[in-house]
Amino acid sequence: MMRQAGRYLPEYRAVRSKVDFLTLCKTPELAAEVTLQPVRRLGVDAAIVFADILLPLEAMGAELVFTPGDGPSFPHPIRSREAIATLTVPDVEDRLGYVLETIRQVRSELAGAVPLIGFGGSPWTLAAYLVEGGPSRTYSQLLAWSYSDPAGLAILLERLAETSAAYLGAQVEAGAQAIQIFDTWGGLLSAERWRAIALPPLRTVIAALARRVPVLYYINDGSHLLPELASLEVDVLSVDWRVPLATVRAVVGARPLQGNLDPAALLAPIPDIEAHTRRLLSEGSGGPHIVNLGHGILPQTPVDHARAFVETAQRAALP
Ligand code: CP3
Repeated sequence: MMRQAGRYLPEYRAVRSKVDFLTLCKTPELAAEVTLQPVRRLGVDAAIVFADILLPLEAMGAELVFTPGDGPSFPHPIRSREAIATLTVPDVEDRLGYVLETIRQVRSELAGAVPLIGFGGSPWTLAAYLVEGGPSRTYSQLLAWSYSDPAGLAILLERLAETSAAYLGAQVEAGAQAIQIFDTWGGLLSAERWRAIALPPLRTVIAALARRVPVLYYINDGSHLLPELASLEVDVLSVDWRVPLATVRAVVGARPLQGNLDPAALLAPIPDIEAHTRRLLSEGSGGPHIVNLGHGILPQTPVDHARAFVETAQRAALP
């Protein structure tokens, strides 16, 4: 699950009550501990390292602040070619070594029990936060730049791709056994513009990882992009809940899919969660299917509801 280590878990809130979010990410002992919490509590079949897609942007030189309640923000958003010059492609071991150390510690503590997934954001989604200065309703700064100076924005996207390629490659070297790329805002673009703007830097990242570990690509609100995604060189396509998996398969074929239960479905009574999960399994049955939520688990999700989802999937899927 996305944010399977997160605020819905009392043991996560207990750790977070002592340290702020960035300190948690940057303290490998604590980050390793919260990575393992959902594995113990829910029995999920993989761990995902506790970190955030925005950390490499801070490593590039952009000041990053997490404000409780408001989420992440960049006080000095990058909105011009001149501003790009303030960003460097960082030395990953030096600036993001804490994530690599967390990965090493988690691998050692897991001792092979379940695999560990590393992750990062797509260049386009990273740019969305960096240009906008934080989450946005319209992403109008980013979209304005994409129309007014696409070549300038492409410079930023390539720099983000170069950083991501180095960062994700270092995660693999540290022990990540698969890499998930989150493209939360890819769906903002039409298919033609996605192909022209978002795809080239994404391919730089994918090419750096290809054939080293399985690569999973998550797109939010991207059903109009499915014909493009059908030929994306990744191992698993991960999709949100808006379109049934059978409909996704009709476009992309029998390739492995991941998803896509609506995170809000976990707020339903447990018997309904079981029914939603069984239905998801039948919708996904036309090819390999990694059961997952279609986006991040909601903080108000009761833990036994999350467990009902995991257990129903495991009961149905295992021989
Ligand atoms: O899944 C996991 O357990 C691994 C950890 C993980 C986090 N963020 C920790 C986190 C993962 C995989 C992410 C990915 C991430 N981060 C994405 C892509 C997926 C998506 O949600 O679309 C994005 C866009 C971000 C950026 C980000 N981080 C935002 C917009 C926010 C605020 C939103 C919120 O729910 O508060 C965060 C904060 C964040 N990252 C939290 C967690 C557990 C909550 C922070 C807290 O504990 O206070």
